Amino acid sequence: MIKGKKIILGITGSIAAYKAALIVRLLIKAGAEVKVIMTTSASNFIAPLTLSTLSKNQVLSELSENETWANHVALGRWADIMLLAPLSCNTLAKMANGICDNLLLAVYLSATCPVVVAPAMDEDMWIHQSTKQNINKLLSFGNHLIPVNNGELASGLSGQGRMAEPEEIIAWLEKFFLCKQELIGKRVLITAGPTHEQIDPVRFIGNHSTGKMGIALAKECMARGASVSLVLGPTAEAVPAGMEVIRVTSAREMLDACLTIFPQTDIAIMCAAVADFSPVTASAQKIKKLNDNITIELTQTPDILKTLGGLKNDGQFLVGFALETDNEKEHALQKLRKKNADLIILNSLRDQGAGFGKETNKITIFDQGENEYKFETKLKSAVATDIVNTILKVYHV
Ligand code: CTP
Repeated sequence: MIKGKKIILGITGSIAAYKAALIVRLLIKAGAEVKVIMTTSASNFIAPLTLSTLSKNQVLSELSENETWANHVALGRWADIMLLAPLSCNTLAKMANGICDNLLLAVYLSATCPVVVAPAMDEDMWIHQSTKQNINKLLSFGNHLIPVNNGELASGLSGQGRMAEPEEIIAWLEKFFLCKQELIGKRVLITAGPTHEQIDPVRFIGNHSTGKMGIALAKECMARGASVSLVLGPTAEAVPAGMEVIRVTSAREMLDACLTIFPQTDIAIMCAAVADFSPVTASAQKIKKLNDNITIELTQTPDILKTLGGLKNDGQFLVGFALETDNEKEHALQKLRKKNADLIILNSLRDQGAGFGKETNKITIFDQGENEYKFETKLKSAVATDIVNTILKVYHV
């Protein structure tokens, strides 16, 4: 619901800046209040007069104009969201590094509202390692990204890097404002990533989980207004700002963190690939190769989902995952019952596009009434949206 929302549109120097006129037009038509801030190079691509006429507001670009200081702090607090479209490679790099050499960057650095960027650049720039790192940095600061499209580029080449179309940007904002309300006031606990069970100071038992699915879920819940606690096993994945992150290594540490948070939790989603077995004793010294064979006695790790299932009260909602390779539905339903979960999300390793480290996932969700919610293979961010939508359907917030 864009109607009545206050939006800062930051425009930077890119050929796609001409499309900003349509973005302003669509926002105004949808009932938003829009203030445009441009960088100097953006005005080489589109006239400020076009944007001030369409937005019905003065277009700002300098930190001070006619001896008047543009109050960037007030601007950053005024807005419900700050949208940068198009975001050039140059401004992206400055945002990632905290550089503040124009009004737009000063507003960005002092903004208390959510920030979303719609990058636009040539494919070679878009796939450059430094651009990738800068985008990851922005996401780790808690900013949002409207992905680029594949298509015709200003260079005449075709590929990735084309700014999302104005209609897609408006649709993203619509969804953002619509979604935002649903989990306000709710506390969500999410486990993600693998656990490592120590064998000796240099070795451990673990698995291939990267935590991508759990992190996507944490972002989705946060975007919908929840206060999120993410209990995260060892992973190199970037974690977004704006949520509580508790780093753990072993299943026991993960359980302890969950037990502390669970009593204040409304919804708990157990997404972690917890190692199932742990050495009975971890050796204090590196184990030497004295024999050809070695026996390590293993014991089962605590089942976190099952433990929380035993503690759950009527107001709490518990979601588990089931990673299966055969008899998928039967095994998933068994886990749902055994662990007293409200929903179980089935991943089958037989499905292409599902599994550890992938950008996509394919899921089927079962509730306690054995209703089945089936989804196609999607990016993990879209899978997270489907999961939260299903939770909201079954759990009446
Ligand atoms: N889980 C957990 N603690 C464990 C093991 C699993 O909390 N020690 C949770 C997972 O986070 C997931 C669900 O239980 O939500 C199912 O995990 P999965 O690995 O599919 O199954 P397991 O219970 O480990 O059973 P099995 O390995 O025999 O399939």
